[in-house]
Amino acid sequence: MGVIVVVGGQWGDEGKGKVVDLLAEDARIVLRSQGGNNAGHTVVVDDRTFKFNLIPSGILHPATVCVIGNGVVLDPRVLLEEVEQLERAGADLSNLVISERAHMIMPYHPVLDRLEEAARGDDRLGTTFRGVGPAYSDKVRRIGFRVGDLQKLRFLEKKLDFVLPLKNDILVKLYSAAPFTKESILEEYTGYASRLDRFIRDPFPIVQEAVASGERVILEGAQGTMLDLDLGTYPYVTSSYPSSGGALAGAGLGPRHVSTTLGIFKAYTTRVGYGPFPTELDDAQGEYLRERGSEYGTTTGRPRRVGWFDAAVARYAVAVNGIDSIALTKLDVLDELEVVRVCTGYVSKGMPEDHPMANISHLKHLEPQYEELPGWGRSTREVRKFEDLPKEAVSYVQRLEELAGAQVDLISVGPGREETIRRRESW
Ligand code: GDP
Ligand code: IMO
Ligand code: MG
Repeated sequence: MGVIVVVGGQWGDEGKGKVVDLLAEDARIVLRSQGGNNAGHTVVVDDRTFKFNLIPSGILHPATVCVIGNGVVLDPRVLLEEVEQLERAGADLSNLVISERAHMIMPYHPVLDRLEEAARGDDRLGTTFRGVGPAYSDKVRRIGFRVGDLQKLRFLEKKLDFVLPLKNDILVKLYSAAPFTKESILEEYTGYASRLDRFIRDPFPIVQEAVASGERVILEGAQGTMLDLDLGTYPYVTSSYPSSGGALAGAGLGPRHVSTTLGIFKAYTTRVGYGPFPTELDDAQGEYLRERGSEYGTTTGRPRRVGWFDAAVARYAVAVNGIDSIALTKLDVLDELEVVRVCTGYVSKGMPEDHPMANISHLKHLEPQYEELPGWGRSTREVRKFEDLPKEAVSYVQRLEELAGAQVDLISVGPGREETIRRRESW
């Protein structure tokens, strides 16, 4: 069985939640490897819709251990809200483990996120304002607070004596904003400490044992490759590493045990927030796809930008992550189109380019090269076998496989668990 690394291949919201929930059925562990409560993962079971910001999407399978890994930054308030909501819905959270090494979003982080965005003016990034960037910055500066600090409140207080003046200085002197007091933070986080204590553990032995005994472990990524701090459209990225390398670091695992790197791709493309998006449709066609695909952010409710499938991005994501299997989602959203377009590569300053380049001003100004394929004009929502898809839909999927350079093993034709075409017995 081994480790399945699930990564978003585009700009996030590819349907990772749905796919992880499906694969979690026979997993020992689902581990959220990085990102924070900027993520929003949706799982639809029968007529119930669950939205997860932090809790791994395997949580609806009672026998599966769900781990929030060391690579995550979490806001304890948001986590507790999620825990309470799930418990009210009848979910069993006794199998939830939060790594002591995961970092916490502190009350000043969302405030700084907003202030920094405002200071950027027209060059703002369009963050989720959840404080994720400022929390990761503090982790790198080694002034972050970790979940394990909740079990050592004297230590947490001592660290606040050092860190809080640094933060208040910026808030007050640079932004003329209100400072935070040590007492209010201590009171708030002492409350979280007692409520989260039952989940805080070192996941190292659990994860290592599962891996050593060959059980299935799923690393659930958040965001997507093009939002990766190093590999994405910097600076219009998130502050973590959504790619497969980041997944391993965020889980505390090496590549030896990885059996499959599963890339999740939407059958078209979406992006929330600012930054280059070569295949963006800024017209009625884009509006149509946004409405038909319900493309509004799970976390912030913002309308998502929409565009055609970008095979140059897909090829790049396959290469940099080592993707050897693809799950293609939301094929049904294209059902009624007469013609479907796919970007096969770009032309930049008269020269062909086969992958997204580092220079974002080049990326903003290039010309996508499109191939047109005939639409299929009928619903795929009821289809469960690949060979039962309309032949034009089969051709579309096969063309995407060729262009991306990896096999499509799972096709999603609706948000529900059953609305899935599996082309592989197991992973
Ligand atoms: P994630 O962040 O990658 O987990 O994706 P999100 O949950 O943010 O966004 C994906 C949205 O598409 C959710 O509302 C899902 O319920 C929905 N969805 C997933 N797969 C399909 C599909 O195949 N067809 C349709 N129509 N909706 C889907
Ligand atoms: P999931 O896991 C889509 C985007 C934000 C913004 C940029 C930086 O649901 O796919 P941040 O708050 O992280 O500093 O914002 O990253 N972003 C996402 N876009 N899906 C996500 O997560 C995202 N998480 C962050 O919109 O453009
Ligand atoms: Mg999402």
